[in-house]
Amino acid sequence: MNPRDLSDKTYLITGANSGIGKAAAQQLAARGAQVILACRSAERGAQAQAQITQATGNSRVIVLPVDLASQASIRAFCAQVNQQFTRLDGLIHNAANFDPSLKQALLTADGVETIFATNHIGVVLMTALLEDLLRASAPSRILTVASKGLLTYPFLDIEFDNLNGERRFSTQHAYYHAKLAQVMYTLSLAQHLQGSGVTVNCVRVTNVAIPDERLTHLPAWQRRLYQLKRRAAISPEQMARTYVYLISDPSVEAISGGYWDENNRQVQLNRSVANAATRARLWQVSRQMAGLED
Ligand SMILES: NC(=O)c1ccc[n+]([C@@H]2O[C@H](COP(=O)([O-])OP(=O)(O)OC[C@H]3O[C@@H](n4cnc5c(N)ncnc54)[C@H](OP(=O)(O)O)[C@@H]3O)[C@@H](O)[C@H]2O)c1
Repeated sequence: MNPRDLSDKTYLITGANSGIGKAAAQQLAARGAQVILACRSAERGAQAQAQITQATGNSRVIVLPVDLASQASIRAFCAQVNQQFTRLDGLIHNAANFDPSLKQALLTADGVETIFATNHIGVVLMTALLEDLLRASAPSRILTVASKGLLTYPFLDIEFDNLNGERRFSTQHAYYHAKLAQVMYTLSLAQHLQGSGVTVNCVRVTNVAIPDERLTHLPAWQRRLYQLKRRAAISPEQMARTYVYLISDPSVEAISGGYWDENNRQVQLNRSVANAATRARLWQVSRQMAGLED
């Protein structure tokens, strides 16, 4: 079999209706994989599905709706995945909320600040609910997604008294806080999954172009900032190649707990990630916030 052929694999990608997630879904579909697009909007998901199938000729592209800011939605979604699919070779936690128009912490129905809920707690819950399927499909892989922007926060640490923006809130802070939590969680999860044949790695996404249609909710000056940033950005397709590499390349199969850049190289972690006590506490607290019994 051609080593690039993935027709015996099933991958699930959250936020697969736009940007890097959609590009990664298309690259996996182009190699024959069955791909589950986990999308907040069924309509935007269906549009992406039609475009991917048309571009690749692969009709095994499925849309399932999920809102990562709702634990009830994640539970319903995972129940459907567990019922409908007999294997899962890769789970890509790509979706994220970065809404600079948020002026104050907005709590979800589960009582969690929306950005932390979507970008961290939702990932913890979805992973736990799909863990058995991933274990049964081993060797299988999980990919979490952080940001190169964390480099500009060298002293950022987990603020256990501010997980819901109780003490201070800005979109920027909540976003990087959740991304740092994802990096720490990746290391804890790698430890938790040791010996299971399920690996987990984290990719540090660099500056990737965001098209104008994703910016319409922003004031003009913020749109202008993004347009300027775009001049130095790489394309979603370029970044997606690293997702595909980490989730499918044979050379990564045995690596777990790695932190990677857009050039498929392992890179240094933020200083605070080294603190094992913080990682252990975050694991515990995140599971509680996700409604998982420990
Ligand atoms: N672009 C960059 O420069 C950059 C830099 C660093 C890190 N990243 C990271 O890279 C990943 C992909 O970003 P991107 O640039 O491709 O952004 P994007 O095009 O805005 O994609 C984000 C995806 O997440 C989905 N999403 C947001 N909230 C959701 C929710 N509550 N439930 C389910 N899905 C939800 C969005 O769905 P809707 O269409 O419904 O909104 C969209 O499909 C993210 O994790 C992001 O943090 C990006």
